[in-house]
Amino acid sequence: MTFGFIGSGHIGQAVAECAIRLGYDVVMSNSRSPDTLKAVVAKLGPKAKAAWNKDVAKQSDVIVVCPPLFALSKLPTAGTEGKIIIDTMNYYPSRDGNIKELDEKRTTTSEMTQKHFPKAYVVKAFNCIPAFAIPTDNYPAGDPDRRALPIAGDDAKAKAFVKEFMDKIGFDVLDAGPLKEGFRFENGTPAYVRRVGLKELEKLVESLPERA
Ligand SMILES: NC(=O)c1ccc[n+]([C@@H]2O[C@H](COP(=O)([O-])OP(=O)(O)OC[C@H]3O[C@@H](n4cnc5c(N)ncnc54)[C@H](OP(=O)(O)O)[C@@H]3O)[C@@H](O)[C@H]2O)c1
Repeated sequence: MTFGFIGSGHIGQAVAECAIRLGYDVVMSNSRSPDTLKAVVAKLGPKAKAAWNKDVAKQSDVIVVCPPLFALSKLPTAGTEGKIIIDTMNYYPSRDGNIKELDEKRTTTSEMTQKHFPKAYVVKAFNCIPAFAIPTDNYPAGDPDRRALPIAGDDAKAKAFVKEFMDKIGFDVLDAGPLKEGFRFENGTPAYVRRVGLKELEKLVESLPERA
C-alpha cells in the first residue's frame, strides 16, 4: 500500500517517515519536479520515491495533502476518486492571502479541500501538532503520557482508517465530528498544538461555541 504526499516539506516528510515505519511505500511531490526531491527521497530511504505532482494520486492508495493552503486550488484531482485524503493544511492569511469565506467563518479549510477533491474522502488530521513531533512524540496505547490529536471528517470508514494509522504511530485520536467541526482545532483555537491527552483535548475542542 502506498501513501502519496502532495507537498514534501516539514509535515510531508514527518508523516512519510511514520508511514514508512509502519511498512508503507511513499511517493513524494512538490510544486517543482521529482529531481528536486532527491535529497528528501534519499533521507526517507528505499521505500520512498518522487513523482510529478499530477501523478502522485494515481500512484497512491491514500493521499496526504500538505502544501500551503494557497496552493489548494491548483492541485491536480485526477486519481483521487474514491481515495482517502489526509488534509494537514492550516490557514495563515499572511502566507495564503485573505480567503473571504474563511474570514467570515462560512466554511473551514478542510471543507474547502473536500470541495476541491469532491470524489475523495477528506479527513482533517496532523494540522494540530508541530511537524517535528509527529515522528518523535510517540507513546504506546495506554501510556499516561500519550498525546492525543483531533481529526474531523464526513466519512466514517475514512476516519477509522486514519484513526488506526495515527494510533499505530503512537497517538490517541479524538474524533471531533464532521469536517465542518474542523474549526474547533484550527490554528488560533485553544486546542491548537496543545500537548495534552484525550480527556483534556476533548474539553479544549468542545470549549468553542457552536457555529451558526
Ligand atoms: N510545519 C508545521 O509544523 C505544520 C504543522 C501543522 C500544519 N501545517 C500545515 O501543513 C502544510 C504544510 O506545512 P509545512 O510546514 O510542511 O510546509 P513547508 O515545509 O513549507 O512545505 C510545503 C511543501 O508544499 C509544496 N508545495 C507548494 N506548492 C505546491 C503545489 N502547488 N503542489 C505540490 N506541492 C506544493 C512545497 O514544494 P516547493 O518546495 O516546490 O514549493 C513543499 O514541499 C501547511 O498548510 C501548514 O500550515 C504545518
